[in-house]
This record gives sequence, structure tokens and C-alpha cells, in this order.
Amino acid sequence: MKGIVLAGGGGSRLYPATKSVSKQLLAVYDKPMIYYPIWTLVTGGIREFLIISTPRDLPAIEALLGDGRDLGLSIAYAEQPTPGGIAEAFVIGKDFIGDESVTLILGDNLFIGQEFDAQFAAALEGFTGGAEIYLKAVPDPERFGVATIGADGAVQSVIEKPADPASNLAVTGLYTFGADVVNVAGQLPRSDRNELEITDVNAHYLHRGLLRYMVIPESVQWIDTGTPDSLVAASLAIQQHTRDQESEIGYVEIAAFRRGYLSQDALLRIAKRTPSDVYAARLRLAAKGKAS
Ligand code: DAU
Repeated sequence: MKGIVLAGGGGSRLYPATKSVSKQLLAVYDKPMIYYPIWTLVTGGIREFLIISTPRDLPAIEALLGDGRDLGLSIAYAEQPTPGGIAEAFVIGKDFIGDESVTLILGDNLFIGQEFDAQFAAALEGFTGGAEIYLKAVPDPERFGVATIGADGAVQSVIEKPADPASNLAVTGLYTFGADVVNVAGQLPRSDRNELEITDVNAHYLHRGLLRYMVIPESVQWIDTGTPDSLVAASLAIQQHTRDQESEIGYVEIAAFRRGYLSQDALLRIAKRTPSDVYAARLRLAAKGKAS
């Protein structure tokens, strides 16, 4: 299973914070935003990544993460010259995906809470093709893609930002597809806003009877950090999880260690060259086997 993090866009709702800095590099509590979606995918068992961003922002993201080798990962990079839609990630990522399945996560989507981890990892491990979306009950579904589930328990419809949503289940910015998604996305017509729409990809799989779903547990918070308020909410939620519950959410290094991609020695070496004493202490704690 390959992983794509889509981290482009202009971040206009966060201007001027995003005037010269990528939204996905802004801090969410103690880490750059992009650490969290990467952490989610590593926790799910993904090791090979493609990060897609704008020509302006890609060099700074690459300066942060490098080729991933230090983290026991492999990270490649690709530019999205203009925001041509979320599904354009599969056209840009064609060669990277090859003949493997792929999970796409939006670089501003945070999944906060540990109850989802095992369920997500099992979904990826058991994935055999088609499509899987991850739904979350929300009070304001009209802001998102919305899925309805029929009496038979199967997905009945997926609609992008419906004015009058027929359910409260938002389609989160996390999607798993078989390798054929490259062709599906490549053959889509562009929408009225001139984008390749992820909702059209999902609808395609739905019509073929191949769209499955998982509902994210109530205890797990999903935050799309696109606005100043949601960015603060995300920071406060992470602060609480990190300080009070001592959770490891967003610590990419620790997730790689837990997955066996990084040895104990390698994690301790990272801790040694980490300038923040607090951050280094968390890495050391994990290396010494004290699960939190
Ligand atoms: O957050 C989940 C929602 O994301 C889904 O429920 C919707 O179905 C999906 O369309 C999307 O809605 P948004 O209105 O949040 O999409 P937005 O255009 O804001 O893009 C989401 C993120 O993806 C944003 O951080 C920028 C990045 N992006 C977006 C586009 C269209 C890119 O990097 N490139 C793009 O071409």
C-alpha cells in the first residue's frame, strides 16, 4: 500500500499566516501540521509516500522531511502546478502508484484519538481493491462530501457539499483505492470549477458496487484545519492528548518505531540530535518501551 499526502492549495482562509508559508507547515501545537496525516498513514502501516504540493511550497516541505530515510520511510515529492482538484493527485502520482493500492490523505486533515488506529490498520491490511472511504458524523455536513447509507448497510450516495444533506456523515479527507484509481481519475471530466473531483471518483466506484466505508468512532476527533478557529481547536485537542493523556499522536518517529520501520538505536539517535528537550524526552520514553 502506497501513501499520498496532498498538501497544496493556497491556504487562503488562513491568510496572512500562509502568505509565505505552506498551510501544512504551520504548527498544530508542537508539530508541523503535515506530521499528523503522515503519522496517521504510518500508523496504518504505510511506509512509502508521495507528497504533493505547490511549486512554491514543495522545497520547504522537502527541507523538513527529506527522503524519509531517517524515519525508516521513503518519501518522494511531486508538484501540483495549479489546484486542479483532489483527484488530480492520482494523475500526478501515476508512476509512484504503479500497480499497488494507494491511500490518499489531505495534508490538513487530523484524526485525533487512538480508537481509530487499529481499525484503520486492519482496513488497510485487508484491502483488496475497489474503494474505501472513512466517514464521520458531524453537525455541519453541508460543508463536506456527504454519504448516505441504505437500509442494506451499503453506501447509497456520495454528494459534494449538498445544500440539504440527507445524512450527517461527512466523507473525510482519507481515501483508499485500488491501483485502477489512476485510470478512473485520468478519465474524469473536469467539474464546473475546473477540478478533478474526489467525489466523482467515489461516485464512480459506488456505481460499480465497489465503494465500502468505515465510520470513525465518536471518541475520535476529525478536524479539517482550514480556518483560524479550526487550527486553534486542533492545537488545543493535540495539547490535551499530548499533555494529559500522553498520547503519541503526530509523533511520526514514534509511529515508525512502533511499526518496526525504525530501530530503537535509530530512534535514540534522533532523540539525541533533537534540539527540544521536551520532544527528545518523548522519543526516549518511547524508545525505552514505555508505551503511553
Ligand atoms: O476535508 C474533507 C473534504 O475535503 C471532503 O469532505 C470533500 O469531499 C472534499 O472535496 C474536500 O473539501 P474541501 O472543501 O475541504 O476541499 P479543498 O478544496 O479545501 O481542499 C482540501 C485540501 O486539499 C486543502 O488543504 C488543499 C488541498 N488541495 C485541494 C485541491 C482542490 C490541493 O492540494 N490541491 C487541490 O487541487
